Amino acid sequence: MGFQALLIPYFLFSLMFFPNFFIQSSGLRKIRKSVIRLPNGDSYGHPFDPTRVTQISWHPRAFLYRNFLTDAECDHLIQLAKDKLELSMVADNESGKSVASEVRTSLGMFLWKNQDKVIAGIESRISAWTFLPVENGEAMQVLHYENGQKYEPHWDYFHDKANQVRGGHRVATILMYLSNVRKGGETVFPNSEIKDSQPKAIKDWSECAKKGYAVKPEKGDALLFFSLHPNTTLDEFSLHESCPVIEGEKWSATKWIHVRNFDKPQ
Ligand SMILES: *[C@@H]1O[C@H](CO)[C@@H](O)[C@H](O)[C@H]1NC(C)=O
Ligand SMILES: *[C@@H]1O[C@H](CO)[C@@H](O)[C@H](O)[C@H]1NC(C)=O
Repeated sequence: MGFQALLIPYFLFSLMFFPNFFIQSSGLRKIRKSVIRLPNGDSYGHPFDPTRVTQISWHPRAFLYRNFLTDAECDHLIQLAKDKLELSMVADNESGKSVASEVRTSLGMFLWKNQDKVIAGIESRISAWTFLPVENGEAMQVLHYENGQKYEPHWDYFHDKANQVRGGHRVATILMYLSNVRKGGETVFPNSEIKDSQPKAIKDWSECAKKGYAVKPEKGDALLFFSLHPNTTLDEFSLHESCPVIEGEKWSATKWIHVRNFDKPQ
């Protein structure tokens, strides 16, 4: 009897008594491991919990995730940034170069990707939430606003060509609120199709927040919105503004995600 003939009864036997044997040794398990790389047993991080996400608008596509970050994660990001803040820049429309502008008056700094375990944990949670790979993201930028500091209405997609060479357009933005703000500092979408349906009398909104659909910064919450339509054209509804801080201070962290690999561009 040849080797192959022996194999057939062995196969049937295995299938009857060890039905999981073939699934475990197939590629399925490997795929499952590689898709969502959430670190386990991290004392800082939350597990990824999609039940805490609400969709706030379709035009633009925007979603709010309550308590995306733990207080410890928020405080950790502020600690890493607070001695390294510099004036925030904007990309020049034609050249794409970073320039100072009165449109944007916050202070900020860039962390490194995968800088430590806490940051790596947040980056993989962002990837699990957005279904976008970690390598498409820029390093997180931590921002500090106080006394009237703001970022006037703008889009996160680029108007210049130079900034699209690495990774293409920015497709999505995640704004993470690292502190509560006593007054002002809301994120507002002036073009949102539902801007008139948001009741503005209930909360203590600033005048700026009343211009559109607004999100009040709450420590640990994260706002995700898309700058491109699903068909990859620019979504002008994604225009947004960081309202001036009126009382207190605002800390936030931003993650911009591109349509292609940002770490190792082709
Ligand atoms: C850049 O271009 C956009 C779109 O054309 C325009 O709305 C914006 O005002 C321009 N920004 C500056 C600083 O010129
Ligand atoms: C892309 O999608 C947007 C939003 O649905 C739509 O307004 C636009 O016409 C589409 N453009 C193309 C070229 O398909």
